[in-house]
Amino acid sequence: MLVLGIESSCDETAAAVLQDGNKLLSNVIASQIPIHEKYGGVVPEIASRKHVEVIVPVVLEALERAGVTLDAIEGISVTRGPGLVGSLLVGLSMAKALSMARGIPFVGVNHLEGHVASAFLAEDKPAFPFVALVVSGGHTNIYVVEDFGRMRLVGQTRDDAAGEAFDKAAKLLDIGYPGGVVIDRLAKTGNPSAVSFPRSMKDSLEFSFSGVKTALLTYTKKLDRPPAQGEIPDIVASYQEAIVDVLVEKTLRAAETHSIGRVAVVGGVAANSRVRARFREDAEKRGIQVTIPPPVFCTDNAAMIAVVGHHFLTRGRRDAYDLNALSRWPIDTQ
Ligand code: KG4
Ligand code: ZN
Repeated sequence: MLVLGIESSCDETAAAVLQDGNKLLSNVIASQIPIHEKYGGVVPEIASRKHVEVIVPVVLEALERAGVTLDAIEGISVTRGPGLVGSLLVGLSMAKALSMARGIPFVGVNHLEGHVASAFLAEDKPAFPFVALVVSGGHTNIYVVEDFGRMRLVGQTRDDAAGEAFDKAAKLLDIGYPGGVVIDRLAKTGNPSAVSFPRSMKDSLEFSFSGVKTALLTYTKKLDRPPAQGEIPDIVASYQEAIVDVLVEKTLRAAETHSIGRVAVVGGVAANSRVRARFREDAEKRGIQVTIPPPVFCTDNAAMIAVVGHHFLTRGRRDAYDLNALSRWPIDTQ
């Protein structure tokens, strides 16, 4: 089955063509980073306008790179939520229009489930059940994943998402946008033990990143001057390490608690080089297998949406044209 995936939940317009659930024929991503950069964050109104401008060329390019025409597409999978409603509606409308015009079935899928499914775009695909850490700009959730469409939330953040903690820190330090990517790069030359930041490590599987963010603010206030250029790498390396410590410890603990031997780390923050290295090291020490997709499948993309859609479409699910977009759509299906 040839599935066209479409993703537009935030600031990436993306389309992908996937064959038989595992062979990716194309993966096109139009990023709006340079557009939102000057505002220091995603501006929803601008994001949806930009999606409208690029959605048709992005879908056409995905078909062209895959070497197929619309006639060959047998199903369409599109992100229904969670995300910015104005952005989601662009992808959803595109999917419905193509479906209606060509009589191709379509399904609306959950963006978080898409991130979880990105694990199947990695070389070492996980077997069910596995524990998934979805760590992005909007979420820091731990799931026990039994199957496609069957996952149970066992831990989440009480306040900021990890990606948000990176983005807010970069804004506070005025070091560039998007924060996570800039911190990843600058931290490489810093000492992760230079500054002591708190780890919210309580016994539960709940995360909290407001403490580390406040600690950074307090640290910069105490300096009583903007940190010098040369001090930034140590500060961000220490800040990053505090976040990574908690992500690794809680996710591996979740696997041990549920007697599951495999974890998948997915979502934008899973593109972070320190997250990737630390998960690999610590999981190996504790005898847990770890799957982390290549960075291009960690940040928002349509390939992961096509993976989920493939499973629903092959099981006969079809959505109707009155399907709406959902800004909030928690998945906890058990
Ligand atoms: O999954 P994603 O593309 O969009 C959401 O669903 O939120 O994740 C975006 C988040 C942003 O907070 C961004 O700063 C973070 O992922 N991110 C990173 C890196 N690349 C993206 N954080 C740390 N290190 C990175 N290399
Ligand atoms: Zn995402």
